[in-house]
Amino acid sequence: MQKDKVNRRTFVKVVSASSLAASLPIANFSILPSTNPGTIKVGVVGTGNRGTHLMRELLAIENVEISALCDLHPERLDRAIQICQDAGQKKPEGYTGDEYAFRKLMEREDLDAVIIATYWEWHAPMAVYAMKHGKYAGVEVPAALSLDECWELVNTSEETGVPCMMLENWSFRKDNLAVLNMIRNGLLGDIVHCHAAHSHDCIDHWFFDAEDGHQRWGAKYLLKYNRDQYPTHGLGPVLSWMDINCDDRITQIYSCATASTSINAYFKRRFGNDHPNANLDYKQGDIVTSTLRTKKGKSIIVNYDMQLPRPYDNRWMIQGTKGIYNEQRVAVHLVDRSPAYHEWEPFRPYEEEFLHKWWKDRDSKAGGHGGVDSLELELFVKAVQDKTQTPLDVYDSVTMSAVVPLSGHSIEKNQPVEFPDFTRGRWKGRAPYFAM
Ligand SMILES: NC(=O)c1ccc[n+]([C@@H]2O[C@H](COP(=O)([O-])OP(=O)(O)OC[C@H]3O[C@@H](n4cnc5c(N)ncnc54)[C@H](O)[C@@H]3O)[C@@H](O)[C@H]2O)c1
Repeated sequence: MQKDKVNRRTFVKVVSASSLAASLPIANFSILPSTNPGTIKVGVVGTGNRGTHLMRELLAIENVEISALCDLHPERLDRAIQICQDAGQKKPEGYTGDEYAFRKLMEREDLDAVIIATYWEWHAPMAVYAMKHGKYAGVEVPAALSLDECWELVNTSEETGVPCMMLENWSFRKDNLAVLNMIRNGLLGDIVHCHAAHSHDCIDHWFFDAEDGHQRWGAKYLLKYNRDQYPTHGLGPVLSWMDINCDDRITQIYSCATASTSINAYFKRRFGNDHPNANLDYKQGDIVTSTLRTKKGKSIIVNYDMQLPRPYDNRWMIQGTKGIYNEQRVAVHLVDRSPAYHEWEPFRPYEEEFLHKWWKDRDSKAGGHGGVDSLELELFVKAVQDKTQTPLDVYDSVTMSAVVPLSGHSIEKNQPVEFPDFTRGRWKGRAPYFAM
């Protein structure tokens, strides 16, 4: 670490004194050179599909050294180490052996940040451990699975002063950020209502092995729980579109699930009636619909839809007093701008006119998910270099994640449940911070 940078330990101590991660300076996030462009050292925990992809994106960012890697599977770890060396980096230290090997990685003095891309149940415990050891935590979705885990992330970030960012990449999409710009420029008027979904058939390759239907690590959640297992991709852009946690907050959620029929049907269709997974009792309903209400009277509908056969979709739609954006139609209708009364017009010209500064001169074909992942990681890295708050903070990270347990509680009780205020009242009067 460079001498002119605040030493990490000093940083943690100084910020701890203020006791609030949120008191960290909100970064002036534009893609300008960092004000503090020293090399940062990053560790990656979980070198499976997503972790390896994120690692490759990190290797393409200047002044990032991947110094440590961890995975349960030695062969995945070795492959990741080789990728770093092939990219011209020093050989990173590898950590494996058992489920707690990550602790040794996070206890290292020299790391500035860790990226966590492991199984869901490890996200919160690993992020908490990282923060307690002074490392910025960049954690994959969802950041937490229970309300206790959500609060532990908030409490740890506040107590240590170390930021924690859930890596919700859809918040950084070019189209979603242009819509955010349009909203901030008043084109949709006062925001009233929004739809979002994660419609992505993951039964045939992610929850279960594509070849033989073997249960992968995510399948146990489908057997045990009935809830929105993956709400954050849908909610990512919605939080900033609706100023959630910035002078408004979600107060209530009411969820309903359909019967669970699709997984049994898939196994019977694909592998026959006698496949061991064909007749199991899956708790997870095929579609979960949650209605969220905000303090200021807005509503959000979010769908879990990951087991029926279908093409990918997010179905974003946001509506205000002066207009509407519909992602599926790639269209808008804006009272002050649209040429025809009550008719749709194409969204793409607006995407260019209201192009967010993060996307100026940026190639949407470079990198994963249309360039979104590299943008997200560049901004995360810049926050680590500058010792500023991350582009998405711990409050937004847990607000998106809390839909996992809360939707389960609501389905079980068949009634609305209260949505906790993770900011403890600090949402009141708080100015928008994301993508400013
Ligand atoms: N943001 C996105 O677009 C996106 C896309 C895909 C996956 N994901 C998320 O990324 C995460 C990983 O998904 P994946 O598809 O890469 O799964 P994967 O199975 O390919 O990889 C997970 C890796 O984590 C390792 N691991 C698990 N527990 C560990 C522990 N205690 N210590 C060390 N290593 C451990 C496993 O050995 C495995 O290699 C998931 O949480 C998923 O939700 C996000």
